Amino acid sequence: MNDKKVKSLIERALSASANAVCDYSKFKVGAALLTKGGKIFTGCNIENKSLTMVICAERVALYKAVSEGHRNFIAIAVVAAGKNRFCPPCGPCRQLLYEFAPDLNVIMANNKKDYIIKRIDDLLPLAFKI
Ligand code: THU
Repeated sequence: MNDKKVKSLIERALSASANAVCDYSKFKVGAALLTKGGKIFTGCNIENKSLTMVICAERVALYKAVSEGHRNFIAIAVVAAGKNRFCPPCGPCRQLLYEFAPDLNVIMANNKKDYIIKRIDDLLPLAFKI
């Protein structure tokens, strides 16, 4: 992926972060997942009063895509709105992303659209497999 494509995926993730429901953490996260066919599914984190039911932006994007029949992915951009640091996916999201796309490119961005890219299998060494 060239820099322009990466930045446009980050832009989609940033837009999605505006919809975050994060009254508790005040930490707005957005994700944008690119399929091999060129479709983009976005997600934001959604929190609720039970606290245990929090869902991360990455999982929302992944579940939207999978529930619409998409299972082949190239990249995901993840960004925390207003934060000047990169936003790496949490452990459980790494496992989920890995299971669908072991060669996924994970774009971790900050609010200035600076980014680093790592493959999911580098972010999750010795991933659990059956
Ligand atoms: N969060 C994400 O959406 N993605 C991540 O990769 C890390 C954490 C959310 C969960 C929770 O709503 C908030 O950020 C603070 O942990």
